[in-house]
Amino acid sequence: METEAVSKGFTTLYGTEPEGVWQAPGRVNVIGEHTDYNDGFMLPIALPHAARVAAARRDDGLLRLHSVQSPDSVTEVVVADLAPGSVEGWAAYPAGVVWALREAGHQVAGADLYLDSDVPTGAGLSSSAALECAVATAYNDLHGLALTPRQLAVLAQRAENAFVGVPCGILDQLASSCCAEGAALFVDARSLDTRQVPLDLAAQGLVLLVIDTEVKHAHADGAYAERRAGCERSAELLGVPALRDVPYDGLDAALARLPEGELRSLTRHIVTEDARVERVIALLDAGDLRGIGPILTEGHASMRDDFAISCAETDLAVDTAVAAGALGARMTGGGFGGSVIVLAERADADRITAAVTDAFAARGWKTPRAFTAVPAAGARRLI
Ligand code: GLA
Repeated sequence: METEAVSKGFTTLYGTEPEGVWQAPGRVNVIGEHTDYNDGFMLPIALPHAARVAAARRDDGLLRLHSVQSPDSVTEVVVADLAPGSVEGWAAYPAGVVWALREAGHQVAGADLYLDSDVPTGAGLSSSAALECAVATAYNDLHGLALTPRQLAVLAQRAENAFVGVPCGILDQLASSCCAEGAALFVDARSLDTRQVPLDLAAQGLVLLVIDTEVKHAHADGAYAERRAGCERSAELLGVPALRDVPYDGLDAALARLPEGELRSLTRHIVTEDARVERVIALLDAGDLRGIGPILTEGHASMRDDFAISCAETDLAVDTAVAAGALGARMTGGGFGGSVIVLAERADADRITAAVTDAFAARGWKTPRAFTAVPAAGARRLI
């Protein structure tokens, strides 16, 4: 249905048929937050929400971009002229991917692209990575580049880092490119090795709720970069390539070598978070899905108290969900707002959602938006 709408929209706007339609999903991270740029571990799932792109090559070197979410404009840029800073707003994400492909030495032509996305923006659900990976996958097919999903994720991350100027890690793009239906994706950010970990919540009577608080605090981008710089500084002081190299059982000794205060807290979050990912993986491998609940909640406390990336809205959602009987809950994504995930018995889901909604209403806050996350497929061609 959506595929047809994107294809038709392309034809109405550009007056020709697209060569195909591709899509790439948003994600939620089950556990492993801010570990990616520390060479550590993480465990995202892809969402059914996705960015879709209808695309056709052009032979005049022009790249034309249109998004259903910005209906009044078409961005036009010459592929050969693409440079960081040359495209602004949402169009920088798809244009950045074409730039990254060109920079990597691939022969890429111009194209007409027609994009549509139902990944909520500003919700910590990787709407940007979805756009990037949809376009990367389309270009890969259209030009027969034969790049792997992992290579496409790396190029998409490069687009975001160097073209858009956001210092993100690899989590979102790997999730969007490489996830599989019915599974979480265990990622080692150093080797970029991945493993599909089956996650059939429904079979065990469980649900994973996503509660989008619909708040995004203004300082989020700067604060993300500060956390990243702090982690890199800690690794430097400890004489290791990345905080991933601080062993969990050597954490106290490592902390004692850092100045008191922020660097210790940042380091403690990363090292304990990597350990939490490993504990979650072990439980999932053993089929104990309920067992991961308390680890998710521990992870939230670590983000709140040590990494200091939580906020009143996400804390309230987590605390209320747990008090209402959730097995576990935590904020997911970069932080400072966005979404919370809640692991719950299916029978408790409505009650938990209502409790969070009531708690927000009691403070006069906007009603959060809740939905159930079922692990979906990564980027792919639709037609
Ligand atoms: C954002 C970034 C990711 C990752 C997460 C936190 O989503 O884009 O690279 O660092 O925050 O885990």
